[in-house]
Parts: sequence; structure tokens; C-alpha cells
Amino acid sequence: TGKATQVKLVLLGESGVGKSSLVMRFVNREYIENREPTIGAAFLTQKCHLDDRSIKFEIWDTAGQERFHSLAPMYYRNAQAAIIVYDITKASTLDKAKSWAKELQRQANSGIVIALVGNKLDLAEGESEDDNSSTEDNERQVSEEDAQAYADEAGLLFKETSAKTSKNVDAIFTEIAKKIPSE
Ligand code: GTP
Ligand code: MG
Repeated sequence: TGKATQVKLVLLGESGVGKSSLVMRFVNREYIENREPTIGAAFLTQKCHLDDRSIKFEIWDTAGQERFHSLAPMYYRNAQAAIIVYDITKASTLDKAKSWAKELQRQANSGIVIALVGNKLDLAEGESEDDNSSTEDNERQVSEEDAQAYADEAGLLFKETSAKTSKNVDAIFTEIAKKIPSE
């Protein structure tokens, strides 16, 4: 029944990939269709209960627009965890995600837990194991296998998510929480 461990977590990634949508889904259990781009950064908190302890995430949701890039070090400095988000329907956003991963591995805390998240999984819902299924609605540009291979090589946690349907949103925060060393 001890106090929750406080964990500073930063979200990074190109504008429009869905960072704020993921955080609003995780913290407020809500999703809105047309969200305004974040200006500067937003701060939110949310607890995550594990079997043996609780983690209180102190979340910095940063602005992805290029003009805010120089602010990022203020938010990832001292962070114990980071979520780097890309959009599975836009391949260029994975390149940006890779450059964030490199920057964090050079400049952030050495023990930082980093997760790579491919968001907007709902837009690839035409996919199925079933060969007869339609792929007409599939807007995917980045394969799960390629992203997983990159994440493994770079030592990052990885999941595909949908802020819209909530798929894997709690799961990625829980995976990160489990990787945080207990005090
Ligand atoms: P910046 O604040 O500018 O860095 O952008 P952001 O990464 O915070 O993106 P934001 O959460 O504002 O989402 C951008 C747009 O993508 C919004 O209009 C969302 O409705 C949409 N979006 C976010 N997540 C999803 C998702 O999981 N699925 C779908 N289909 N759309 C999404
Ligand atoms: Mg935002």
C-alpha cells in the first residue's frame, strides 16, 4: 500500500501523429476527431496500478510542429520514460521517430525507458488473416514487422495503437510501468 512511484514521461513525434489523442485516451478515456495542434506542451498525470506497486505518470505531451523542436530537451531532460509516436499511415513519420530515438539515446537519462508507438491502427482495419477479406480500407504505409525489427534493434518497446478505438493504449503505458525499476 506504499506511495505511488512518480515517473516523468515525455511524448515526442511529428505533428498530427496523435500524441495528444493517446494521452487524452489514457488519462480522460475520451477521443475527439479534430484536435488542435499542441502549442508548447501540455502536462497531465495518470496512475497505473501493477500487481505489486503503483506508478504515477507525470506526462509531458510535447508539440510536434517543427517550430517547437528546440523546446524538447526541456521536457525530456530528467525523463525516466518516453513514448515516441509515429502514424502507421505516413511513412515519413517513422523516420522522424527514429531521429527522436537517436536524440534521446544521446542526450536523455541513460536509464530512460523508451517505447515506439505506431498509432492510427484503426485505419488499417481492412487487414485480416483471412485471404478473402477486403483490403480497400487499408491505409497502412509502415508494416508492423519492419517497425518491430527496428524497435528490437534499437532496444525500444513497441506497440501499434489506436487512440480512436483505445486498442493497446493502456497496454503500452503498463508495459512501460513494468520496466521502471522499483525504488
Ligand atoms: P501536435 O500536437 O501538433 O504535435 O499533434 P499530435 O501528435 O498531438 O496529434 P493529435 O493528437 O492532435 O491528432 C491529430 C489528428 O489525428 C486529430 O485530428 C485526431 O483526430 C487524429 N488521430 C489521432 N489519433 C488517431 C487514431 O488513433 N486514429 C485515427 N483515425 N485518427 C487519429
Ligand atoms: Mg498534440
